[in-house]
Amino acid sequence: MKRLSGKTALITGAAQGIGRAFAESYVQEGAQVAIADINIALAQEAANDIGPSAIAIEMDVSNQDNIESGVTAAIQHFGGLDILVNNAAVFSANPIVDITREDFDKVFSINVAGTLFTLQAVAKHMIERGKGGKIINMASQAGRRGEALVGVYCATKASVISLTQSAGLNLIEHGINVNAIAPGVVDGAHWDGVDAHFARLESKAPGEKKIEVGQAVPAGRMGRPEDLTGMAIFLASNESNYVVSQCYNVDGGQWMS
Ligand SMILES: NC(=O)c1ccc[n+]([C@@H]2O[C@H](COP(=O)([O-])OP(=O)(O)OC[C@H]3O[C@@H](n4cnc5c(N)ncnc54)[C@H](O)[C@@H]3O)[C@@H](O)[C@H]2O)c1
Repeated sequence: MKRLSGKTALITGAAQGIGRAFAESYVQEGAQVAIADINIALAQEAANDIGPSAIAIEMDVSNQDNIESGVTAAIQHFGGLDILVNNAAVFSANPIVDITREDFDKVFSINVAGTLFTLQAVAKHMIERGKGGKIINMASQAGRRGEALVGVYCATKASVISLTQSAGLNLIEHGINVNAIAPGVVDGAHWDGVDAHFARLESKAPGEKKIEVGQAVPAGRMGRPEDLTGMAIFLASNESNYVVSQCYNVDGGQWMS
C-alpha cells in the first residue's frame, strides 16, 4: 500500500534539490504534486521528468499575490490540497557588522514571511475543506543555534522552528499537523552557494568548506536530498497524525535536541 495514495501536495522551491526529491518521493508514494518555484523553467523541467502526477506552478513566496494565486491554482487543479511543504529558502552569510537591511529584508521575506503566509493560505483552505492536512516546514540545524558568519539565515530558521510550534498548536484542532525537518549539510546547489560564501569570508579554496563539513558529520558524509525523503513522507502520511509542532533533525548525527 502506498503511503500517500490519493493525496495532493504543494511543495515550494521544488524545482531542484531537496524539494524536488520530495516531489519525486511523494509521487512514488501515490500523491499528485504541485512544484511551486520562482524558477518556472526549472520547475516545468522537474514536472516533465516526474510525469503526469506533477505540475509546475510559478510562485515567488515573498510576494503575497503570488502565494494566493499559486495556492489557488494548485487547489483548482487537484480539487483540494492535503499536504504543504514550505521548502523554498535562500541563504546568505556575512559578519554581523556587514549585514545590510536589504539582505535581512530579502532573506526574512522568503524564509520566514514566505513560510508563514503560504502556510496561512493553505491552512485556510484545509480548515474550510474540513479534511485536516499536513504541513511540513523546512528548518535547519542553522535554526538550532547561531553561527558567527550566518546571523540572518540562522535567525530565519530559528523563526521557522518557532512558527512551526505556534502553528502546530493552533491548527491541530482542525486535524492539521504542522511539523518541521531540520537538515544538516545537504550537497547540491544550496551548498555550492554556501561554499562560495565561505571561500570569500574565510579565504578557503572552492570546495574546501564542503570537504570540512562533510568530514565533521558523525555519519561521515554530507547528506543527499534522498536522505530526507523518509521523514518527509512520514510527516505527510497518516502515520504522523499524533505528531504535533515537532522539528526533527535529519542530519547524520550533527545535532541532538
Ligand atoms: N542543503 C542544505 O544543506 C540544507 C540544510 C538545512 C536546511 N536546508 C533547507 O532545505 C530547503 C531546501 O534546500 P535545498 O538545498 O534544496 O535548496 P536549493 O537552493 O537547492 O533550492 C531552493 C529552491 O527554492 C527556490 N526559491 C528560491 N527563492 C524562492 C522564492 N522566493 N519563491 C519560490 N521559490 C524560491 C529556488 O528556485 C530553488 O528551486 C531550504 O529551506 C533550505 O534552507 C537545506
